[in-house]
Amino acid sequence: MSSFIVEGLAGKASLEGSVAIRGAKNSVLPIMAASLVVPGETILTNVPMIADVASMASLLEGVGAYVTCKDNQCSVRTQDARGSVLQSDVAKRLRASVLLTGAVLARTGKVVFPHPGGCVLGSRPIDLFLSGLTALGAVVTENEEITTIEAPQGMVGGELFFRVPSVTATETFMIAATLAKGPVTLKNCAMEPEVVVLAAYLKSRGADIEGEGTPTILIRPSHLEANSTPFIINPDRIETGSFLILGALLGKDITITNTNPAHCEALIDTLCAMGVSVHTTPTEIRVSRPDIIKSASIRTHEYPGFPTDLQAPISVLLTQAEGESSILETIFDGRLNYTQELVRMGADISVVNPHKALIKGPSLLKARDIDGPDIRAGLAFLLAAATASGTSKIGNAHLIDRGYEAIDEKLSALGLSIKRVA
Ligand code: EPU
Repeated sequence: MSSFIVEGLAGKASLEGSVAIRGAKNSVLPIMAASLVVPGETILTNVPMIADVASMASLLEGVGAYVTCKDNQCSVRTQDARGSVLQSDVAKRLRASVLLTGAVLARTGKVVFPHPGGCVLGSRPIDLFLSGLTALGAVVTENEEITTIEAPQGMVGGELFFRVPSVTATETFMIAATLAKGPVTLKNCAMEPEVVVLAAYLKSRGADIEGEGTPTILIRPSHLEANSTPFIINPDRIETGSFLILGALLGKDITITNTNPAHCEALIDTLCAMGVSVHTTPTEIRVSRPDIIKSASIRTHEYPGFPTDLQAPISVLLTQAEGESSILETIFDGRLNYTQELVRMGADISVVNPHKALIKGPSLLKARDIDGPDIRAGLAFLLAAATASGTSKIGNAHLIDRGYEAIDEKLSALGLSIKRVA
């Protein structure tokens, strides 16, 4: 297990330079899963070299695909992918393994998997997946550890309404529906950019999909074809947002390149209202810390609202804002636990209930040795350590590595003293 040792800047806005954003984790994972329903080889470029991509590659190899990932490019060849069982140890670590349920079922008529693991953000049920696949004609058998879903004759068409707009459920059913026997209409869908990008990948291989990026998506039966043109993964809006928040905290002058500011509107709007200087071009964002950071009320929401994945990072910024700020987490019910550690660093945060926290600032943060509980809270701890005075040790670096490529190198290039230690 490795950790990061961070020399805090005691709030001094001294970071400068540029940082390039890599392709989005939450786009590449569903596209790798979707490659199972596409004949031939899929080549993906601008792939982040992160642990979650390696886990998805390993799950695909477990069902017989050939995967190579190197230098930000992945090749997935699926001609021999006949397996139906998801490797239990890997699937348990990766919530996104659930994306493979639809793909493997559509391809082989059966899928066997453990309850998918991943970040501990509260209860993360899979009822939408099970009820939706049942509605499309599959039969679900569950025991304590393992779920088996079978549809030996293939899936039928139909109409599904999602009780909540789930990102990976929307994606799973888009993938599965491409091989269904009739049209599938999905209602109350997630509208995240990653859903739109997945549709672009499937359409580039012949899928007939309409309505992605809106609440209703229609997938008609079609004949998918191999396409040797590499598919470029879109810039990661959460990595972008994480560096934007870093710039608001400690930036003298930071330029974020290779990104898409249009996917970060909720955050940019919030930062501007907080007095942060943000300038965008179509592919870059320049950000620096203001003298005074104003307080804000954050309410996480499905896209295009404020992303839950930036809730922990923005809390660190709110500890440096003048006056009282609030956080309302509406997506997950266990995503405020990390605030206890920020309090131990000197932040004034009261958690009102599992969804709401009040943050008073500005507070002087003091260095601490802490372990990140998940990808985004881990990143928030790096931001807090960089803002604090003194030397902090942030453990569980492997969790941050699940979602951020070479985070230590990128932070170091901006002028932060950060070292990875075993
Ligand atoms: N939900 C159900 N039943 C289900 C599925 C979801 O009740 O069967 C609920 C969840 O409990 C939650 C809500 O629906 O309250 C929305 O969760 P969603 O299903 O959209 O989350 P997800 O698809 O599992 C993706 C991202 C997460 C991100 C969320 C929300 C991927 C691989 N993961 O998760 O990303 O937080 O959407 O935007 O796309 C991360 O990158 O660190 C991360 C956790």
